[in-house]
Amino acid sequence: MRIRYMKEAPRILADSPWVIADGRTYRGEWARSFDSRMEEICLEVGCGMGRFIGEMAARHPEQGWIGLERIGSVLARGVKRLEAAGEGEDRPNLRFLLGDAAELGEIFQEGELSRVYLNFSDPWPKERHAKRRLTAPTYLDIYRKILKEDGILQMKTDNEILFDFSLARLQEKGWQILRQSRDLHGSGILPDNVMTEYEEKFAKQGKQICFLQAAPRSLAKDS
Ligand SMILES: C[S@@+](CC[C@H](N)C(=O)[O-])C[C@H]1O[C@@H](n2cnc3c(N)ncnc32)[C@H](O)[C@@H]1O
Repeated sequence: MRIRYMKEAPRILADSPWVIADGRTYRGEWARSFDSRMEEICLEVGCGMGRFIGEMAARHPEQGWIGLERIGSVLARGVKRLEAAGEGEDRPNLRFLLGDAAELGEIFQEGELSRVYLNFSDPWPKERHAKRRLTAPTYLDIYRKILKEDGILQMKTDNEILFDFSLARLQEKGWQILRQSRDLHGSGILPDNVMTEYEEKFAKQGKQICFLQAAPRSLAKDS
């Protein structure tokens, strides 16, 4: 992905009511951090311009929705678009964080999240970069800690190699695969699916989308 640098990104992020400057401030307090207390907090890791998380927040006002993105220029474009669409007032349950997935354990307390979404994560195709994939074992250990016992990790990708890698790592780590499909759109497995930016692009190209949901509750192999 080619990322266009945006000079005004730091200002846009600093001025936005949706962007939390330092997520660590709310560790253990996320449910109370919204205008009204949220029973469930859901996170998208690598939210890009935030279209998915913004739409989920609109559809589920009773839940708190947080998008984490590590590139300021990408997040700022998303924030600008939300502002331009005048969608701010009706999304009091939406937050964005600028940061890296590796920091999630410092941002969320154990069992604080109901759902973690990985949508079209970077595939890092070279074997020497496998540790950077967002379903590498170190990341799965972090998600297991910050998810509730009955929480769910959901993944969508167009990349079958990443999908196979993810299934294998999840199984090795003792996660329970609840549902999966290699043709999300054709299968009807997720009738209320919200398309992400990348998903729409890939679907238009006729690519099939892989999908899985997994639960961390198996007690085996915690590290
Ligand atoms: C291919 S884009 C997908 C964006 C969006 N989820 C979608 O489906 O349209 C992947 C995004 O994840 C972000 N990302 C990759 N690794 C990350 C990490 N370790 N922590 C936070 N964000 C990350 C990238 O900067 C990029 O914006």
